[in-house]
Amino acid sequence: MNLKSKSKVIATSALGFSVELLVDIGQEDLDNILHLSKDLTKIFGEQGKLNETNIPKYFNSNTIQFLAKKNSKLVGFIIGAPLEIFKRESWSRYDTNLGQSNTIYTYFFYIEKKYRKKGGYAKTLKHIYLNYLKKKKYKYVTGHVKIGVSENFGSNSEIVKIFQHWYGQNKPYEYYRRIL
Ligand SMILES: CC(C)(COP(=O)(O)OP(=O)(O)OC[C@H]1O[C@@H](n2cnc3c(N)ncnc32)[C@H](O)[C@@H]1OP(=O)(O)O)[C@@H](O)C(=O)NCCC(=O)NCCS
Repeated sequence: MNLKSKSKVIATSALGFSVELLVDIGQEDLDNILHLSKDLTKIFGEQGKLNETNIPKYFNSNTIQFLAKKNSKLVGFIIGAPLEIFKRESWSRYDTNLGQSNTIYTYFFYIEKKYRKKGGYAKTLKHIYLNYLKKKKYKYVTGHVKIGVSENFGSNSEIVKIFQHWYGQNKPYEYYRRIL
């Protein structure tokens, strides 16, 4: 693995915020992602864990990875993968599109705490991700979110199934599908 990632800068703002499409992950970004994802492990336990072993599953030419940086420092990321990658996981069978290769499942969406709910950081990252998926001709984006969250995704989003128990979370999670 190279030290530097191969990536394409998609957007930059005057305030030093940028979004990059990752093409080939380098050691520097990998270390920073692993560092930030410790917070995800705190929230989701092992399910939220990104580590050296499972990194190839999520960072390869079949998956979509965008990084958010503030003054060149990693502050967040969004990672989507074809639904079919999860075909051995029981939840994926509730999605009737499994096997159609038309759906990207959003596996990780993370913004460092101090950059949440302001500056449009999460909004911009998500917007760029959705536009990219559309350009790549995917029909749907899906994911698991805390119950009620997908209500804000607009009328082209529906709840496919509610999971009362989701990896030890104290609230049910909904599996949503959004038309791109
Ligand atoms: C999820 C997270 C990145 C959202 O960042 P935020 O700054 O709190 O986001 P905001 O509430 O300003 O919302 C920004 C946009 O993201 C959407 N959003 C919020 N949570 C989301 C989620 N879990 N999945 C997908 N979209 C989400 C909002 O609806 C909003 O969309 P809009 O631009 O269409 O209105 C952030 O809260 C976070 O890192 N949480 C901890 C990790 C986590 O729980 N990730 C989700 C599961 S992997």
